[in-house]
Amino acid sequence: MDFSGKTALVTGGASGIGLACVEQFAAAGANVVVADISGEGANAVAAKLGPKGLGFGGDLADPLAVADLFDLAMARFGRVDCAVNAAGISGNWGAFEDFPLEEWHRVIAVNLTGVFLCMQHEARIMLKQGGGAICNISSGAGFLPAPGMPHYTASKHGVLGLTKVAAKEYAARGIRVNAVCPGATLTPMMEKSIGGDAERQALMDATVPFGRMGRSEEIAAAAVWLCSDAASFVSGESMAVDGASVCR
Ligand SMILES: NC(=O)c1ccc[n+]([C@@H]2O[C@H](COP(=O)([O-])OP(=O)(O)OC[C@H]3O[C@@H](n4cnc5c(N)ncnc54)[C@H](O)[C@@H]3O)[C@@H](O)[C@H]2O)c1
Repeated sequence: MDFSGKTALVTGGASGIGLACVEQFAAAGANVVVADISGEGANAVAAKLGPKGLGFGGDLADPLAVADLFDLAMARFGRVDCAVNAAGISGNWGAFEDFPLEEWHRVIAVNLTGVFLCMQHEARIMLKQGGGAICNISSGAGFLPAPGMPHYTASKHGVLGLTKVAAKEYAARGIRVNAVCPGATLTPMMEKSIGGDAERQALMDATVPFGRMGRSEEIAAAAVWLCSDAASFVSGESMAVDGASVCR
């Protein structure tokens, strides 16, 4: 895949799946905008790319921060050809009937509203350019329920809904919109939830038919491919990358 002369923007680019996307876009020749709530993390990742990298720190659930991100990206590179919306949080578990509203609102704000806001800016820019490709990072929880995680499940189902609506709306105007649905993947998010407990990790590995969790670069490879010209006839797809977990 060759992304020379193209600009890719990756949210959640300081860590895990987003970081792997940044690395793969950069290796294929793209300019890369790395956006993350951790400005320090985003800037450190972007600095490694030299003049082809741009870091941005901000909470992408905040419409003003999202507007700043896209203003900065356009001021620096003048276009956004590909976007991977990977920023997300898992939130805490809880019983459905007692689920705290604050917890619900935060996960929906980051995982669903944040993706929606970024997609709006991406679409506006891509419409002006005459095309582009967007890939949202949903989850296996976009297809199946994650008990104890109503907020996460609803947000990831919602991301697939946004993906499909936008794919249809922009189909005749050169913008492809897809989603990747990772299964359990060993990223810092997952490591935090495993808490260094080897037994817990073995249990997580055993939930995947492949017998192991995915790696960030395996998820990123699908997202970057969906943004590439090799996927020129693919739009509206929700691609499971999960070691045969869902098999829909
Ligand atoms: N790891 C898994 O098993 C798994 C499985 C399915 C889906 N996912 C999804 O993949 C995506 C990436 O997750 P990951 O596992 O790489 O996690 P991660 O925690 O390693 O990376 C997520 C990144 O998003 C950033 N972020 C969080 N909230 C943000 C906000 N409000 N604004 C901007 N940036 C923000 C974080 O700082 C972090 O750098 C998420 O959307 C997650 O829901 C992960």
